[in-house]
Amino acid sequence: MRQVILAATMIGGLLAGCGPAEAPKATPPAAPPRVLTAAERTTALAALPAPYNTADLENGRRVFARCRSCHTITPNGPNMTGPGLYGVIGRTAGTHAGFKYSPALKAAGFAWDDARIDHWLQNPRTFLPGNKMTFPGLPDATDRRDVIAFLSVDAAPPT
Ligand code: HEC
Repeated sequence: MRQVILAATMIGGLLAGCGPAEAPKATPPAAPPRVLTAAERTTALAALPAPYNTADLENGRRVFARCRSCHTITPNGPNMTGPGLYGVIGRTAGTHAGFKYSPALKAAGFAWDDARIDHWLQNPRTFLPGNKMTFPGLPDATDRRDVIAFLSVDAAPPT
C-alpha cells in the first residue's frame, strides 16, 4: 500500500512537471553556422546536376539581393515577410516552422526541387495561384539558374 501511494505521488510529480529529481534543462548553445571555404564551394557547385554545375555563384548572390528583403538563408534564420530559406531545396513546400503560409502553399504537397523552384521564380503568381509571395518573378533563365545554384551551395548544410 505504501508503495502504491509512493508511486502515485511520483507520477503526480512527473505529470506536474516538477519532480524533485528533475535536473534543470540547459539549452546547448547553437552551433555557429559553418561557412564553406572557397574550395568547398567549388566542389559543391561541381556536384550539382547540369546546368547548375556551371552556374555563376557570384551572379546568384547578386540576384538573391532581390529576395533578401523577405528571406533569410542562414541556419535558424528568422522568418520575415517570407519563410527562412536555409535548406529549402528538398524541403516540403509550405512547411518551414513558425511561418504562416497561404493555403495554396500549405496544400502544395511537393518537395522543392530545382525544376519547381525554377518554375516558381519564373512567375510565382501562375505557378501556385493564390500564394502570397508578392514578387514579380525572374524572367532571365540564367539568373534563375544562378540563384538556384547559390541556394543549393550557400543555403544548405555542407555535405
Ligand atoms: C516581397 C517579399 C518576397 C520576395 C522579394 C521574395 N519572396 Fe519568396 N516568399 C515570400 C512569401 C510571403 C512566401 C510564402 C508564400 C505563401 O505562403 O504563399 C515566399 C515563399 C518562397 C518559397 C517557398 C518556401 C517554402 O517554404 O515553401 C521560395 C522557394 C521562395 N519564396 C524563394 C524566393 C526567392 C529565391 C526570391 C528571390 C528571387 C524570393 N522568394 C523573393 C515573399 C517574398
